[in-house]
Amino acid sequence: MNKCLVLAAILVLAALAGGCSRGGQAGQAGQITVGFSQVGAESEWRTANTASVKAALAAPEFRLKFSDAQQKQENQIKALRSFIAQRVDVIAFSPVVESGWETVLREAKNAHIPVVLTDRAVKVSDESLYATFIGSDFVEEGRKAARWVLEDSKGKPGPIRVAELQGTVGSAPANDRMKGFHEVLDADPRFQVVRSQSGDFTRAKGKEVMEAFLKAEGNKIDVLFAHNDDMAIGAIQAIEEAGLKPGQDIRIVSIDGVHGAFEAMKAGKLNATIECNPLLGPKLAQLIRDIKAGQPVPRRVVVEEGVFTQDQVAAELPKRKY
Ligand code: AHR
Repeated sequence: MNKCLVLAAILVLAALAGGCSRGGQAGQAGQITVGFSQVGAESEWRTANTASVKAALAAPEFRLKFSDAQQKQENQIKALRSFIAQRVDVIAFSPVVESGWETVLREAKNAHIPVVLTDRAVKVSDESLYATFIGSDFVEEGRKAARWVLEDSKGKPGPIRVAELQGTVGSAPANDRMKGFHEVLDADPRFQVVRSQSGDFTRAKGKEVMEAFLKAEGNKIDVLFAHNDDMAIGAIQAIEEAGLKPGQDIRIVSIDGVHGAFEAMKAGKLNATIECNPLLGPKLAQLIRDIKAGQPVPRRVVVEEGVFTQDQVAAELPKRKY
């Protein structure tokens, strides 16, 4: 009888041990525990990105610990430290800003927890602090926006006065989009960037900053480049409230390609959107699987993207997935 009890206890303990992931609490056998720290909920793009990540990192294969940083780096550092303390299998995160990650990423490395960067890059002196980075080429997106402006301004005499709504200060998409845009646009002497300021990737801030631009420049802005669609949509409201016609009096190009942008193009208020694909979940899940299986992963996974203008809206809008 005693022998039977001991055997039963051993079997129960073995089952429990097999069923626990590295995350420490009960999970299903083989389940991968992922700590994901998201930037926030600042834009339509971000909402689609969060939904894609949550759908791809779902049970039973994954156990997802999701944390929203509300656009604050200190919240992300806290979340990363908590994932390390919980001994998750993999950490994935989309960094709010580019710099200031060295210490916490070293803590993850010392704990042997691989880190996957999604969407946004970090600036670190030691690249071994993360396993891979999946996301868009933001510099190229900035170049595409400038090429659209050049094409749209063909035959127009200078000066052409440009206003720029930048993304979150210090973030990879703001830094890179600005770089790519200026690299192409500054080569044409007709263009003068008369205003450039951050609208923090939100509609509310985009509207507020555009109101200030219009106050300062009157109706002398010809082109608006917004680092994302949400800020462009906020700016469109400000332009209309100032008695001007967005898309006509001020030509507008922004980045993301979300539904809201397509609706604005349909209404003739936005001229072009440069696609930035937020549906990173399935590729992220595959990278995590490969890392867990000890397979080599590429250092960089870049996402393919297009450029959309008003004449493409009727054909494209029904097909859009975000
Ligand atoms: O990092 C991607 C950018 O962040 C998107 O362009 C923007 O909409 C988001 O907030």
